[in-house]
Amino acid sequence: MKDTILASSILSADFSGLEKSIRYIENNGGGWVHLDVMDGSFVPNITIGSPVVAALRPLTSLTFDVHLMIVNPGNHIGSFAAAGADYITFHYEAAVHHHRIIEHIHQLGKKAGISIVPSTPVSVLEEILPFIDLVLVMTVNPGFGGQKMIDSCVKKLDILSRIRQERGLSYILSVDGGINSETLDSVIKAGADVVVSGSAFFSGELEWK
Ligand code: DX5
Ligand code: ZN
Repeated sequence: MKDTILASSILSADFSGLEKSIRYIENNGGGWVHLDVMDGSFVPNITIGSPVVAALRPLTSLTFDVHLMIVNPGNHIGSFAAAGADYITFHYEAAVHHHRIIEHIHQLGKKAGISIVPSTPVSVLEEILPFIDLVLVMTVNPGFGGQKMIDSCVKKLDILSRIRQERGLSYILSVDGGINSETLDSVIKAGADVVVSGSAFFSGELEWK
């Protein structure tokens, strides 16, 4: 478990005291801070934007893992890069010119990630895999914390892990949705390098030791 990075999703934190939540992450094994940006269009929920990311940036040196669940993600890369994101992950389903967006993220000195929702197969990523730094496999339909994992999505980690080896690529594999003490083993066995956890982490159900 120590080789795996925990990315703590502040979606399940107390929004009235996010500095406390950052300290909780630092003190409980959170290696990355996962920041879920939702626009009410790509997903049915609205959360935070780049000003919140910028406000949190001076509080910690932990890696900021920004997960954009928004339409037209290419229009917002500059503001999240300026706000202090380290990884900027956008959804395959929300964009057309994936390669252009990835290049833009790289030009701004940031790492680029691409995410797929449960109904999207890994195969659509074939052309883009050599250019990206991270693949985020969603194991719930994005939009809310605290949902049950869709177990059939876990095999995508296996597939992506095998492709990485066969093609000599180096992207990081991350997984997001319904990760708790019961489901953790399955995603680590399937090859996850980064595990996102919101509700189980902040409730104390998932202990990271
Ligand atoms: C869901 C978000 C997740 C969410 C995970 O759309 O992308 O990052 O916070 O929450 P849990 O761990 O509760 O499933
Ligand atoms: Zn997320």
